Amino acid sequence: MIKVHIRGGKVMTKRYYLTTPIYYPSDNLHIGHTYTTVAADTLKKFKQAQGYEVYLVTGSDEHGQKIEQKAKENNMEPKAYVDMIVENIKKLWSMLGISYDKFIRTTDKEHEEVVQKIFTKLYEQGDIYKSYYEGWYCTPCESFWTESQLEDGKCPDCGREVHLTKEEAYFFRLSKYRDKIIQLFEENPDFLQPETRRNEMIKNFLEEGLEDISVSRSTFDWGVKVPFDPKHVVYVWIDALACYITALGYGTDNDENFKQFWPANLHLVGKEIVRFHTIIWPALLMALGLEIPKKVFGHGWILFDNDKMSKSKGNVIYPEPIIELYGIDAFRYFLLREFSFGQDGSFNKEKFLQRFNSDLANDLGNLVSRTVTMVNKYNEGILPEPVLKEEVDDSLVEMAIDTKAKVEKYMDDLNFSQALEEIWKVIRRTNKYIDETTPWILIKEGKKDRLDTVLYNLTESIRIIATLISPFMENTAKEIFKQIGFDQEANWETSSKWGIIKAGTKVNKGKALFPRLDIDKELARWEEANQKLIEERSKQLEEEEEYITIDDFAKVQLKVAEVIDVEDHPNADKLLVLKLKVGDETRQVVSGIKKYYSKEDLVGKKVVVVTNLQPVKLRGVESKGMILAAEKDGKLTLVSTLEDIEAGATIS
Ligand code: MSP
Repeated sequence: MIKVHIRGGKVMTKRYYLTTPIYYPSDNLHIGHTYTTVAADTLKKFKQAQGYEVYLVTGSDEHGQKIEQKAKENNMEPKAYVDMIVENIKKLWSMLGISYDKFIRTTDKEHEEVVQKIFTKLYEQGDIYKSYYEGWYCTPCESFWTESQLEDGKCPDCGREVHLTKEEAYFFRLSKYRDKIIQLFEENPDFLQPETRRNEMIKNFLEEGLEDISVSRSTFDWGVKVPFDPKHVVYVWIDALACYITALGYGTDNDENFKQFWPANLHLVGKEIVRFHTIIWPALLMALGLEIPKKVFGHGWILFDNDKMSKSKGNVIYPEPIIELYGIDAFRYFLLREFSFGQDGSFNKEKFLQRFNSDLANDLGNLVSRTVTMVNKYNEGILPEPVLKEEVDDSLVEMAIDTKAKVEKYMDDLNFSQALEEIWKVIRRTNKYIDETTPWILIKEGKKDRLDTVLYNLTESIRIIATLISPFMENTAKEIFKQIGFDQEANWETSSKWGIIKAGTKVNKGKALFPRLDIDKELARWEEANQKLIEERSKQLEEEEEYITIDDFAKVQLKVAEVIDVEDHPNADKLLVLKLKVGDETRQVVSGIKKYYSKEDLVGKKVVVVTNLQPVKLRGVESKGMILAAEKDGKLTLVSTLEDIEAGATIS
């Protein structure tokens, strides 16, 4: 519903444009990723409740070498790969009740065309120019590295030789906008929040001086082609940031949304991508002559045991099992209540279950169930008229109607946790009110007038609570309204008014909102659900995988070889140089197994070698072939045959 307000006789719509980052397609989205979208969706619902027309954009960031590589690993074309993953991302957002207005994909045709237009415009006006990108290039990895990224002067990914290379590239004149960006920071202290991130940007980047950045790549294909020089693709971050305006139709005939919603009121982003959003993005907008977003908020990270979550560390917490077992609302509540939005926080399963029991089952769930039960038991399920007030009522009423303003203040600061805490203060106060007024004694003593007032006050306080939690926990709010028989739409304005719910309303005893959990049992159930999810995911990928034919496999020549000598590599700490006997031939293979095997371990052993691999020089030493090894979680073992067999035997 669009609300309007009238200023000077002119009808104005209050609009709010809110974005999350667009996500890299990954089959591994964890609770950390959901943090930005859950926060954005809650803010959207809060702003809508206040009468704003909100436009929320999210999407997927699908180009770049990493994605191309990932698709290759899964034997898929990049587009087929991203199509599959993006479906999973959308499913996750829908599972979490995220109500975005536009899901922008960087592979959308309209988006790609506008990115090309932007690139051309900036080139023609001299903000983009052609030059050379200099760096250390690793050919097998197709990657450029800076001097400081190298490890022992070698490629940090594969340990191989790198070459100082000059590659033609397009550059954006970021340096030209430095003063203007400093001015933006100085004149708009709110532009980047929280304060600590603002200081970081000023100190670490702006004061250091800004260098022009390379905005094209020519070593891979998977990207938006530079229209006037198609051997280059546009740098992914330029492509990605542009989505905030292409999502509104900027640069097309259909740019109504752009006219109405730009500039963005808020870009919500994780802390690691603040630099792109507060330096590169404003500079691009300045170059395009467009307005700058009003605010960027860089939230903290959700860690696990204070460590970054990653698949290889095996410490990833997936959202799906949590939602399946405990519901969307418990999940959303925990994310926004437990962590302080601007800072990092550590996720802990026991903490989740404890909070479920204390805040949701004990505080909120019990309050609603006790109240509805009492109205049923003491007044045949009909909400009575409040007739006999007492002093103790005042503090409850005052606290309940004052909370809206406090919640609004904290929400404006994006302090979700404190906003929820304020609501929980009312919940706890209302529970205490039951203990103070002891309705079960009032009924025994025949003090019906007083009992009626207590029951009314409890229900009215619950109405306010349900309204206030509705942006965070929409389903729970609806269920509470149903149980207390409140059949009007949640109306934010009335959450600071007392006496809205009508006496005579019929309450409905419903299911327990949050049944108490046995923590040990739940930890086991959680683990089981997690394993199931991991298995399903890998099955999906297997099903999508493109198979190789027997002819493809036949191209690889594998043979049994005997290790006859081993030496240290003269120029590399991690490599060994092995002499192998393969039939009548002796060949030399360089292998990165020094950490796992010594000369004594290897001489006389039979290994498996790929014999038709193109010979390469690894750090100056020739290697003809590759020996096979199995590796998992940092453990490595060489592959051999089950029974002994002569060196030179063919493996097929
Ligand atoms: N594609 C870029 C954004 C381009 S925006 C023009 C990107 N994608 S991402 O998939 O890596 O991250 C998406 C969001 O998830 C970011 O806001 C990021 O900070 C957030 N999170 C990813 N892991 C996180 C945690 N562990 N904790 C909290 N949020 C983190 O960056």
